[in-house]
Amino acid sequence: MSALSVKNVSKIFPALNNKNQSVQALQDVSLEVNENEFVSILGHSGCGKTTLLNLIAGFESPTSGSIFCAEKAVKDPGADRSMVFQDYALFPWLTVRDNIAFGLHLKRINSASIEQSVMHFANLVGLSAFVDSYPHQLSGGMRQRVSIARALAVNPTVLLMDEPFAALDAQNRSMMQQEMIRILAEESKTVVLVTHSIEESINLSDVIVVLTRRPGRVKAVIRVPEPRKMIEDTPSYLEIRKKIRALINDEHDISDTV
Ligand SMILES: Nc1ncnc2c1ncn2[C@@H]1O[C@H](COP(=O)(O)OP(=O)(O)OP(=O)(O)O)[C@@H](O)[C@H]1O
Ligand SMILES: [Mg+2]
Repeated sequence: MSALSVKNVSKIFPALNNKNQSVQALQDVSLEVNENEFVSILGHSGCGKTTLLNLIAGFESPTSGSIFCAEKAVKDPGADRSMVFQDYALFPWLTVRDNIAFGLHLKRINSASIEQSVMHFANLVGLSAFVDSYPHQLSGGMRQRVSIARALAVNPTVLLMDEPFAALDAQNRSMMQQEMIRILAEESKTVVLVTHSIEESINLSDVIVVLTRRPGRVKAVIRVPEPRKMIEDTPSYLEIRKKIRALINDEHDISDTV
């Protein structure tokens, strides 16, 4: 079944006044994501990747085209699509427990089930010993684990991730990628990840979507031959990396207006 369906979506941000021009961020983007599939979106800075996630999340509306999550038209934000942001976006005044529980309180679930769920997801991301800590007491990698636990706790149909590991150093980033593989092996999920890292997309994805420069259009859809089992520097890894690099480097600068 299709977990997420993006159909012919374009997005134009209108001019705010007569001094600036409207900006076309996306043009006729279509995308099908199957249940439990991991899809990465790659493309140059400013090509509309965050815009695409914001449209799927329902934070913005497309200028034309439509989006369906599990066959239901996306109109507003909803718990069926949860987002993990680059800067974690945790509530600093809440403990890890209450951060993870946040979306569950909104769902009006009873407190015993909430606690059970919090402990399940804290355990899944390896933070069961830190549920009473506050975000400022955690490292960047740990904060991002809380953010992932919070996003998963509401049992979304689709997990959206906007450069979730970009703020981490190389070592932590690679560790979080391994963690993501482990978490998804335990808890199957449909994921759409925006990243600048070709390697990250190869390590994590079933499918990699390369966008053109702005206005972002789908330039290529590439299937990873052995999803989450690719080994760096093997011939098949080097081949797919070369192919994606060529697609991205092939994109030239274009004018800044619609
Ligand atoms: N709310 C907005 N109002 C006006 N223009 C916007 C808005 N959000 C994004 N844009 C414009 O749309 C284009 C795409 O932006 P977007 O943030 O989606 O790019 P991106 O691919 O995520 O870039 P990066 O890789 O740098 O994060 C940019 O030109 C940006 O200035
Ligand atoms: Mg972005």
